[in-house]
Amino acid sequence: MAAPGLVLASLLLVLSCLAIPCHGNVLLSSLKNTLVVTASPKQGQVLKAGEDEITVTWNLNQTYPAGMDSAYKTIKVKLCYAPISQVDRAWRKTVDNLGKDKTCQFKIVARPYDVFNKTVQRFQWVIERDVPEATYFVRAYAYDSNDKEVGYGQTTDAHKTINLFEIHAITGRHMTLDICSICFSAFSVVSLLGFFVAEKRRTKK
Ligand SMILES: *[C@@H]1O[C@H](CO)[C@@H](O)[C@H](O)[C@H]1NC(C)=O
Ligand SMILES: *[C@@H]1O[C@H](CO)[C@@H](O)[C@H](O)[C@H]1NC(C)=O
Repeated sequence: MAAPGLVLASLLLVLSCLAIPCHGNVLLSSLKNTLVVTASPKQGQVLKAGEDEITVTWNLNQTYPAGMDSAYKTIKVKLCYAPISQVDRAWRKTVDNLGKDKTCQFKIVARPYDVFNKTVQRFQWVIERDVPEATYFVRAYAYDSNDKEVGYGQTTDAHKTINLFEIHAITGRHMTLDICSICFSAFSVVSLLGFFVAEKRRTKK
């Protein structure tokens, strides 16, 4: 019979995946902080999802020796949760293994990296509507040709205490509030009308 063999094979596959992380076993702590990354929001600034823009810039920190970036192929810039917005939220947890890390869940932009271009790269991003209300910073990863992280940089310090900004998801909440108040107003107008009609009928009799 084929079934037991199949079950055994899939079990082995699952086990091997557990034993050797299937992808992304790069540790953040093993990467050099080679990129200088900036983002336009000031410390503590409040931005609105779906409306406000963030300008990010990145370039190689020039104090590193030439050739440091020779393997860099792509830069991906991401929006990352600050520690205060990770408390009691396992789904946002920071893990040193980048394959399991949940700190940086929102892609801002991905761009090819040109080793010969030392110009500071810039991107203007309208904060997407589905970005949840939280405190954030920005991090950029450099990837090699195998799509493995080989360097990074971030707008905050190592302890993630400076240059943090807030994004407020006003659209979702306000829309619900607006719909609620419209419903309530409509309801009160209708019931008021109903009351007058009923009252008129009663007095006519
Ligand atoms: C560049 O790297 C050096 C050495 O790690 C660091 O001291 C310096 O602050 C970095 N420069 C910037 C602009 O981040
Ligand atoms: C270098 O990068 C800048 C900024 O992205 C870009 O405008 C410029 O065209 C690039 N230069 C070259 C030679 O690719």
